[in-house]
Amino acid sequence: MTDQAPHPEGDIPGKPTAASRTTLSHIMTGSDTNLLGTVHGGVIMKLVDDAAGAVAGRHSGGPAVTASMDEMVFLEPVRVGDLVHVRAQVNWTGRSSMEVGVRVMAERWNESTPAQQVGSAYLVFAAVDADGKPRPVPPVIPETERDKRRYQEAQIRRTHRLARRRAIRELREKRAAEGIED
Ligand SMILES: CC(C)(COP(=O)(O)OP(=O)(O)OC[C@H]1O[C@@H](n2cnc3c(N)ncnc32)[C@H](O)[C@@H]1OP(=O)(O)O)[C@@H](O)C(=O)NCCC(=O)NCCS
Repeated sequence: MTDQAPHPEGDIPGKPTAASRTTLSHIMTGSDTNLLGTVHGGVIMKLVDDAAGAVAGRHSGGPAVTASMDEMVFLEPVRVGDLVHVRAQVNWTGRSSMEVGVRVMAERWNESTPAQQVGSAYLVFAAVDADGKPRPVPPVIPETERDKRRYQEAQIRRTHRLARRRAIRELREKRAAEGIED
């Protein structure tokens, strides 16, 4: 089920997904808007990074830094007054990295309808020690069927991230070896 490398320090006890799952809620104000009067995407991205960072820190039991953020999707505009809920959980763990999945929900300030999904993102955090070097993380234990699906989907994204990085690095090395400057 996993492509995790073994921890050199020995087995670290796993933690269930639910142990670090969290929700960050925030009411949008006038200072959060773009020129169109809706909420700036960067404001939502900050909340996403904050919520994901809280989850990564809780899961790994210490500091964790954002290594990458991908597939940030904005589905619907968010407006001033909306109550935004940013739900985050660890989907997958490697040796020192964690993929955190984030779902952004908005309760419209002027409607009594259920919260609507307005965005989502996947972030990779690396747990680091006091010197900023990667340190091992506890393996996440997905317990529900939904968490197991998210774990498997995260493995697919991990495979694609690594393959893309490798392919780009190889292309650059090849062009450099051919003496091509850009
Ligand atoms: C993230 C960071 C700690 C990685 O350090 P590194 O020396 O490259 O270490 P590694 O190559 O061993 O990577 C550590 C883990 O992160 C993963 N990782 C590193 N860069 C990644 C990227 N761009 N995307 C996805 N995963 C990444 C690696 O796959 C590895 O995972 P694993 O241990 O589970 O197999 C380092 O690049 C860093 O400190 N970056 C700055 C982070 C930061 O400051 N963020 C806030 C921005 S203001």
